[in-house]
Amino acid sequence: MGQNTNHLPTHPLVEEALLHAVREQTFNLYAPPSGMEELKELVLDDISGASKRSDKTGVLITDGAVEGLYLTSKRLSDEHTTFITSDPTWVWPLKFSANEGAKIVRLPIYNDRNNFKILAEQLKEELERAGKSVLYLVDPLNPLGSSYNEAEITEIASLARDNDTIVIHDCTYRDFAFEHFLIRDFYPEKTITTYSFSKWLGIAGLRTGAIIVDEPLLSFLIDDQPNILGSNIVGQIAAIAAFKVKTEWVTHINSVQRRNQERIKSTFDLFEGFNPIVYPSNGNFISIDCTESPLRANYVAEKLLQKNIFVRTSDYHSDVLKDTFLKISTTVPEKWADQLCHELHEILPR
Ligand SMILES: Cc1ncc(COP(=O)(O)O)c(C=O)c1O
Repeated sequence: MGQNTNHLPTHPLVEEALLHAVREQTFNLYAPPSGMEELKELVLDDISGASKRSDKTGVLITDGAVEGLYLTSKRLSDEHTTFITSDPTWVWPLKFSANEGAKIVRLPIYNDRNNFKILAEQLKEELERAGKSVLYLVDPLNPLGSSYNEAEITEIASLARDNDTIVIHDCTYRDFAFEHFLIRDFYPEKTITTYSFSKWLGIAGLRTGAIIVDEPLLSFLIDDQPNILGSNIVGQIAAIAAFKVKTEWVTHINSVQRRNQERIKSTFDLFEGFNPIVYPSNGNFISIDCTESPLRANYVAEKLLQKNIFVRTSDYHSDVLKDTFLKISTTVPEKWADQLCHELHEILPR
């Protein structure tokens, strides 16, 4: 319960598509370099249903969202770049960018004033100081489950435009949010939106994702595409099938995972000093602050691991917030959540 992967039984239609793809040995082929056309269209429809989609808008299917993040973070960074994100965040793109010589700036958000999000005034100050900059905005935010409302997204888009900043909008957890707004709807020309099939669909091991971006930025990125032989063909076939049932599937998984969030929260509520950070979370996970409890986050995680339950702590997401909070994934069968709660009763002090 630590990777925010989805462990609920696969939809029968997707399972059948996967079995068929294997029986037909579709994997003998390379997929088209930028992805199967049908899938690219479906991703565009999904992400830009409400948005202004122009004939400049394109999709690149990638080996999971992380390949798109690797490509964009690397391609847009050099020693003159300031790469801005929140603290905590999902840290890997910071490494990709730093390896190209960029300066990494992590804006502190773990406090009530920030409400666990980057504030416009904080961003403005940094953008004005930065010069050439890239904003890496994870929304909903792994690890806290916070998400930006429409006014906040509009303001971020307008600050980015004013400062000629490129935005990487990491929307990996979009389908778990109660509402979600796209920066590309307000600033399409310099926004890269990342898309993942790992979490809502549950095919993390098949490495299938995408980026959505307008020309000419798209061509600039594709010029350095690491996987020019196409992404996982079986994953793409599963994703095409999944779009046929996406609405019912997402409703189903959210009802299960929100029930799991509730169950986990009410268990922590029984013990002093364990405080849910954003509840309900807009992700398929819930994070619990442990700073007021007699037990530290890493201690609780270690005890759970001894019972074969893996959860993450803040150490994975921040250099500053060590041993501060637990993060528990909730797209799991309800009996996994029950087992976790049972173990918490054994571990936590009354
Ligand atoms: C914020 C964020 N972005 C990207 C990824 C990677 O997604 P994918 O499995 O599609 O590569 C993750 C995985 O946990 C994530 O949390």
